[in-house]
This record gives sequence, structure tokens and C-alpha cells, in this order.
Amino acid sequence: MDVIEEKDELHELIEDWLHHSDHVALVPTMGNLHAGHLSLVELARENAERVIVSIFVNPTQFDRVEDFDAYPRSLEKDCLRLRKLNVDAVFAPQLDGIYPFGLDDAARVVVPSLKDDFCGARHPGYFDGVTGLVARLFALVQPDVAVFGQKDFQEQLIVRRMTEDLNFPTRIITAPTIREDDGLAMSSRNQFLSDEERAAAPELYAMLSDIASEVQDGQQDYAALEEDGRSRLSEAGFDVDYVAIRRAENMQVPDRDCDEIVVLAAAMMGKTRLLDNVVVTI
Ligand code: PAF
Repeated sequence: MDVIEEKDELHELIEDWLHHSDHVALVPTMGNLHAGHLSLVELARENAERVIVSIFVNPTQFDRVEDFDAYPRSLEKDCLRLRKLNVDAVFAPQLDGIYPFGLDDAARVVVPSLKDDFCGARHPGYFDGVTGLVARLFALVQPDVAVFGQKDFQEQLIVRRMTEDLNFPTRIITAPTIREDDGLAMSSRNQFLSDEERAAAPELYAMLSDIASEVQDGQQDYAALEEDGRSRLSEAGFDVDYVAIRRAENMQVPDRDCDEIVVLAAAMMGKTRLLDNVVVTI
């Protein structure tokens, strides 16, 4: 497995792959990998002859420099795990390899209609950071396929829209959420939960699944379902950010013709923000 830091080296490798007519799948990450990430890698492997994982803690996705500095970095350990999955290359660039003109003068990529609500309301600018980075990675790697997790539903939707709008020749695959035995979605943040918080956390998925079943059964009073969901989470000890029932296609309020719905929620459990979603076809 090649571990690459420099753009020139990346270009040489990609050219070699293209020369052999190999398809390339990219899995963008910020490192600190867990089983959820590894499932993205496995899906990438099923969809291309070559798999490259990027590991880059992207400063434009953090509100505060302290949070960026404190983000866990574990490149060596991550590489060991990726090697076992037969990943072809890890691209772990330095800051100036991604933002050669510096952060303040970096060209921006923004998807206006999707970036400001839900998680974007909590962290203004977060999704501009994601699209800015993912567009750069797509330009550098030119992947045939890129894999994102369904857990970050809004993120994968924004990336899909950006890809279509800017005509990147990359197919976006959304990978199913990997869960612990009790239903809690795997996340790098779960490690910050205390024992008591960890015991209460599965209520998030339980609540989303129950609402999804009600939607599937034809319940259409979405405002009431959302309110019930918020109460359930509060009772379980969460500080609720949002519980919402939306069209999966664009996160707008569903109308009668809508056939795919996403039920999504984000809430604080102590100091840890958890998010999850369930998609229902009706
Ligand atoms: O979901 C993430 O880990 C990040 O937002 C991503 C897509 C790797 C961009 O930094």
C-alpha cells in the first residue's frame, strides 16, 4: 500500500492505474478510522479495481481552532487497518497540498440550498468546508466512484448535488450505516460517551426506527411525529437539536407525491453530538 503525501506522486500513481484501465474508487476520511469507515472501504473495493483512501483533517470544517487541534490523529494505526483491507493507496496530504493559496484565499464551492439547515444551522460554514475539500479531492484523484456514509445524510446529499452541478465524472455511492448490536450508529464520537450516556444513546435509532415504521404505515401527521420524537429523546436525556421528516431527494418538507422519506435527528448526549437517520420508501 502506498502512503502518499505529495500531489506529484499521487498523479504518477493515478496515471499508472489509468494506463492499466483500472477504475478508481475514493473514500474520503478525516482518519481516526472505525468499523464504519472500513465498511466504506469494502464497498469501494466492490466497485473498482483500485481503492484510495484520503486522510486529511480539514480545518475548514471546524468552528474553532482548538477543536481542529484536538481532533484525534492516528495515521499509523489507520494505515495498518487499511493495509489489511488491501487498500492500494492512502493519500495523506499536508495543508498546502490541498490549499496552495492558503485558507483565506481558497476558491470556494458552495451548495446554497442544502447547506444552511439541520447540521448546517448548528455549524455555519461546515458544509462549505466539506464541498471545498471534496471538490479538491475529486480534481486531484479523478475517481470513477466515491463512497460516503449514509449516517451523514445531509453531507452525502450535498456532495451528490455538487458532483452533478459541477459535472464531476464521479459516481457517488452512499454506504449503509454500520451499527453497534444495540443499534447505535458507529461514529468516532461514540468514544467520548460516558458509560451512562452510552447506555442511553441507542434511543436515538430506536426513536427514528419507530417514526419510520409509522410513516411506512401511512401516518401523515409529520409535525406530530416529529414532536413525539423530540419528547422521547428529551426523556432519554438528550438535548435535542432537530428531529425532522423530509423528502430524501432534497430534504424539503414532503408532499403527497413523495415516495422516499428520510427521518433524521441530531441531539447532544452530554457533550457529544450524535446524529442518525432512517430512509423509508413509501
Ligand atoms: O465525513 C467526513 O469524514 C468528512 O466530512 C469528509 C467527507 C471526509 C470531508 O472532510
